[in-house]
Amino acid sequence: DGPGRAKGWCATDHNTDNTTEMLQEWLAAVGDDYATVVWRPEGEPRSYPDEEGPKHWTKERHQFLMELKQEALTFARDWGADYILFADTDNILTNNQTLRLLIDQGLPVVAPMLDSQTYYSNFWCGITPQGYYRRTADYFPTKNRQRRGCFQVPMVHSTFLVSLRTEGAAQLAFYPPHPNYSWPFDDIIVFAYACQAVGVTIHVCNEHRYGYMNVPVKPHQGLEDEKVNFIHLILEALVDGPPMWASAHVSRPPKRPSKMGFDEVFVISLARRPDRRERMLSSLWEMEVSGRVVDAVDGRTLNSSLMRSLGVDLLPGYQDPYSGRTLTKGEVGCFLSHYSIWEEVVARRLARILVFEDDVRFESNFRGRLERLMEEVEAEKLPWDLIYLGRKQVNPEEEAAVEGLPHLVVAGYSYWTLAYVLSLAGARKLLASQPLHRMLPVDEFLPIMFDQHPNEQYKAHFWPRDLRAFSARPLLAAPTHYAGDAEWLSDTETSSPWDDDKREAETQREKQAPYRDSIPGLQDHNLG
Ligand SMILES: *[C@@H]1O[C@H](CO)[C@@H](O)[C@H](O)[C@H]1NC(C)=O
Ligand SMILES: *[C@@H]1O[C@H](CO)[C@@H](O)[C@H](O)[C@H]1NC(C)=O
Ligand SMILES: *[C@@H]1O[C@H](CO)[C@@H](O)[C@H](O)[C@H]1NC(C)=O
Ligand SMILES: *[C@@H]1O[C@H](CO)[C@@H](O)[C@H](O)[C@H]1NC(C)=O
Repeated sequence: DGPGRAKGWCATDHNTDNTTEMLQEWLAAVGDDYATVVWRPEGEPRSYPDEEGPKHWTKERHQFLMELKQEALTFARDWGADYILFADTDNILTNNQTLRLLIDQGLPVVAPMLDSQTYYSNFWCGITPQGYYRRTADYFPTKNRQRRGCFQVPMVHSTFLVSLRTEGAAQLAFYPPHPNYSWPFDDIIVFAYACQAVGVTIHVCNEHRYGYMNVPVKPHQGLEDEKVNFIHLILEALVDGPPMWASAHVSRPPKRPSKMGFDEVFVISLARRPDRRERMLSSLWEMEVSGRVVDAVDGRTLNSSLMRSLGVDLLPGYQDPYSGRTLTKGEVGCFLSHYSIWEEVVARRLARILVFEDDVRFESNFRGRLERLMEEVEAEKLPWDLIYLGRKQVNPEEEAAVEGLPHLVVAGYSYWTLAYVLSLAGARKLLASQPLHRMLPVDEFLPIMFDQHPNEQYKAHFWPRDLRAFSARPLLAAPTHYAGDAEWLSDTETSSPWDDDKREAETQREKQAPYRDSIPGLQDHNLG
């Protein structure tokens, strides 16, 4: 076969999750790209006799895997291959240059660092003399890419390239383990030991983003958890990097988005930030949530005459507690955006709705946990107006628990409006207080309405402050980025709409004022 063409060696066994059929479908489409494909599916048995579940690593499972990997290695050697790339089925390589980038390193054994939704990756930085994981100071800086490059490590697994022409490579083996082997009976450690024994170095490279791996679920957890985990991984990939695209060569079950029992799911998003809108919509789609985009009021389009015509006026004496400044255009736009949703809720008499801003990072199993929370609230017949799903708790003190509802607390002073559930009664209370005539940032307004704002002067303008506000505990949503992050980008202009309109061009170009630290709900305002 011509140079540059690879052979594929593809094995799958002990499956209960349709992996075999999906692989077969994929191979049917891409098989011609390979010189040959060896296809080794094993339909039966579906499980190991001593396993607690499909993720339970029994001795037999380990041994079977070692023998398989050895078979693949022998196949490559017999063929005279220069390289062999091992790739586990649940690793997702998104970088189509991965093979080229790894080969170019000229290293004996090299793994592309794979990202996950947690601390987990496909390498160790330290190993104990007994062959167990050893925590080192290098691990997290490497995993988080504060330290970039190719680094020698004691162990890599799941996806890695072996250069078969390297000195010593001929002695590498997965099975049987090295004669002097006394470390744990595990393919990844057996191979690491084999490398060490013959002086073949192992490296991990993290200069690029290569792909992803799911975190292992516990043995007793089933495939459902893995699915939930996997969706979370897709969402996390959307936050941090280029999205994962589904292969065009594998059919997928159709998505059936729903409103999860809400009357409407609103996504407030600024038209001039299509990237964020796109990310939110993709995230909701993955979770099968059907959201409706509401064009945010763009602070940039606001000026003093427009403010007057809308009847907007500033709360007398309002000053940002950190910067001392008054409301920005972004904050006014943000308030107006939320306000328009509350108006719609009342006009259409929507019993309960969900509101997202467009910079939401979803916690694992967001959908499942929210559905369960709402069921619990319903079952307890709790009267509520607003439930924060994501917020910044301003004072760290303990908040009152809610009897019979372990996943809820009574909300204390909070910032941010990035994700919340609102009832019709709640929307009515918010509108009845006529906040446009005494505006302050929307996330300061809400705590006033449930009487948890520390500023008595501000509170005196609103009555009655009887909003029944709660918060999910733990929170189900967080901001994608915090003020000061490398990715953080503020859309909030520093000028207020009450400034002299002529000054505007200048102020917009001014360097951003020192904003409140890490309060993206205000600063990072997607809404203008
Ligand atoms: C299994 O995978 C095949 C190939 O992708 C697909 O056509 C089929 O619908 C899947 N079956 C189930 C039960 O998901
Ligand atoms: C490889 O990935 C790049 C960047 O994602 C993309 O532009 C390109 O089309 C891809 N090439 C192939 C052959 O898929
Ligand atoms: C195993 O260990 C013994 C004692 O340390 C050593 O003499 C022997 O060479 C080792 N065997 C191999 C195959 O490395
Ligand atoms: C204020 O904005 C409105 C609507 O965009 C525009 O029609 C008006 O001319 C603006 N006024 C000033 C003084 O810029």
